[in-house]
Formats: sequence, structure tokens, C-alpha cells
Amino acid sequence: MRIEQFDPLTDDRRLRACHGMAVAGQPEDDPNLPAEPYEDFRVFWALGESLSLMQTWLATDESGEAVGAYVLELPQRENRKNAFVQIIVDPARRRRGAGRLLLAHLAGQAAQAGRERLMGWTRIGAPGTAFARATGGREGMREVRRRQDLSEDLRQRLPALRAAAEPHASGYGLRCWDGRAPAELRDGLCAVYTALGDAPHDGAYEPASFDAARLDAEEQRLVARGVRWYSAAAVEAARGEVAAVTQVNVQPGQPQWGWQAITAVTKQHRGHRLGLLVKVAMLELLAEREPALRHIVTSNAEQNEHMVAVNEQLGYQVTDYLQAWEHEVAAVAPVPAG
Ligand SMILES: CC(C)(COP(=O)(O)OP(=O)(O)OC[C@H]1O[C@@H](n2cnc3c(N)ncnc32)[C@H](O)[C@@H]1OP(=O)(O)O)[C@@H](O)C(=O)NCCC(=O)NCCS
Repeated sequence: MRIEQFDPLTDDRRLRACHGMAVAGQPEDDPNLPAEPYEDFRVFWALGESLSLMQTWLATDESGEAVGAYVLELPQRENRKNAFVQIIVDPARRRRGAGRLLLAHLAGQAAQAGRERLMGWTRIGAPGTAFARATGGREGMREVRRRQDLSEDLRQRLPALRAAAEPHASGYGLRCWDGRAPAELRDGLCAVYTALGDAPHDGAYEPASFDAARLDAEEQRLVARGVRWYSAAAVEAARGEVAAVTQVNVQPGQPQWGWQAITAVTKQHRGHRLGLLVKVAMLELLAEREPALRHIVTSNAEQNEHMVAVNEQLGYQVTDYLQAWEHEVAAVAPVPAG
């Protein structure tokens, strides 16, 4: 097996080979979700989370056929001792040691970049979970993935949900928009995005703090993915402070599926049902703007009770459990000679 680095921004052929393996593995790896469109895959492999350096490597056999691949994300702001990783092996070539070899190779690159810890996620029940455990991974937090089906029944319940929440939220107004955030809300939104760091996370993971540069970078990533993205925010009427926000992304090639991005309420504004209110406003906005939408997918930490309670009121149902993993770089067996 030959493992070579390539540039995902310019080498479309190799990146498509990686995407092809991910799509082929989908029925086994993640059967409850539709396959990731190439545009999304390209941005995640080429740019990662915002403000990261990326390395992508493809493993081929002697005839040049793709066997497996990995992406190593080296965050440049927070998480400078951590590397985020994804390994993929062609489903027709699994259980022959390719995954172990790629992990060892990747750990070598992470060590050279000064990283101490590898971090990744798997779906419980999928081969990735057995692999992470067998290769010495340490279990981190669990997330629960839920899906909301946008039925007529849900649509009819929205006015009652809003009416029940509104008396707790006097003094706040709602703002909805699509695409880039309005200029006058940008500073306030940075504070709300930073507040997401209060959500449960593993000790070694450093949540992102937001400023104007990061917000710009996030929006550029969404533009590069080609998604349509929608936001609903609660704004405190008296001081104009942004108190809560929720965002949903829709990929034009998959208009039935919405992907929940952030929902956050800043600490000083919690307890006013703002989480529910912005989500109800979002559903009303999406009904108008995305008539083909049928499902919204979200993931939350198992212990994130408040968010989960809001989602349950909105009819979300559990589809999958996701497991975070950490590998100490120094503990991963090195690539065998030859
Ligand atoms: C996880 C993945 C990379 C493993 O690739 P692979 O080439 O099959 O891995 P290996 O052959 O090196 O397996 C190493 C060990 O992991 C364990 N393992 C891997 N797949 C397994 C499965 N389906 N069931 C049980 N154990 C499994 C075994 O202990 C295996 O050793 P063994 O075959 O000697 O028993 C591959 O299944 C994949 O691409 N999954 C989708 C993406 C993913 O989940 N990536 C990992 C998280 S980033």
C-alpha cells in the first residue's frame, strides 16, 4: 500500500476517490443519513472547522486503486495540542489492516505537527466504533442524534408552542435572516456563538471563541459548501443585545434535509424559553423558504437536558448514538518498516 499526500483544493480526482469510499460505506457506517454531497465533503476535507491547517492522504494499491484515506485537521487557534481525524477504508477492503496502517501513519504526521491527542467520532454500532476501541481509543462524551419530521401536525402545533413561550420572553424581539448575518448583529452573534462553549464537552477539547474574523471564516465556509443557511435570533429590546440564535443549513442538492447548526442562548438570558422561541421561528421561516424540506437532523450531548427538552417538544426522535474518541499520539503503534 502506498500512502501519498494530496491537495484537496486542486486534486479533484483524488478527493472524489475519497468521497466515493465514504458514499460506498454509508449503508454500513451511517445508514440513517443520506450520503454527504460532494460539495460538503470537499469543504470538510479541504477546510475542516474554520481556521485549521489540513492534511489529506490517500492510500492506493499496486494498481493505483484507492484503498483508504485520511484527513488530519490541525486547529490553529484553540486545540493546538489536538488533531481532529477521519479515516476511511473502502468497504470492499476492510478488515485487512489498512485502517491500522492509516492510523499509524496519521499519528506520525500528528506527532511531527506537535499534536499530543487525536480526536474523532464514530456511530455506535458501526465498524468505526469497534476499530476505535481495538486501536486503544479512550471513550469521551456521547452525543445523541435526533431527526425531526416536518409533518402537518407539527406545523399546526407551532402557534400553541409559541403562545406558551411568549409570556416568559417579554422584552425580547425576534430577527430572522438567510445567509450572512446583518452588520448590526455581528458582534452580538460572536458572543452567542462563544456561549456554545458552555455546552457539555470533553475536558481536552477547547471550544471555539468567536470574533469578527472567525465569523467571516465560518460564513465563507458555508458559501464554499454552496448551502443555503437560515438564522433566527432573539434580541433584547431594551439594549439590542443578541440573546439567542439558531441556524439551519440546507444543501441545494438535498432539499428534503435540513442540518441543525448552532442553537445557543447566552448565560444571562437563559430561562426565558428563548431556545424554543427561536426554533419555532426557524420552522416558520423554513416552511416559507424551503417548501421541499421534510427532515431536520440535530446532535446534542446526552446530558444537555435543556436543549434535548426543547427538541422533544418539537417532535425530534432519536436515530443514532455517537461516540467521541481520543487516542494519545505517543501510544499509537508506529507504521511497521516496509
Ligand atoms: C473504521 C475503519 C477505518 C476500519 O478500517 P479497516 O481497514 O477495516 O481496519 P483494520 O482492518 O485495520 O481493523 C483493525 C481492528 O479494528 C477492529 N475492527 C475493525 N472493523 C471491525 C468490525 N467491523 N467489527 C469488529 N471489529 C472491527 C478489529 O479489532 C480489527 O482487527 P482484526 O481485523 O485483526 O480483528 C473502516 O471500517 C471505515 O472506513 N469505517 C468508516 C469510517 C470510520 O468510522 N472511521 C473511523 C473513525 S474516524
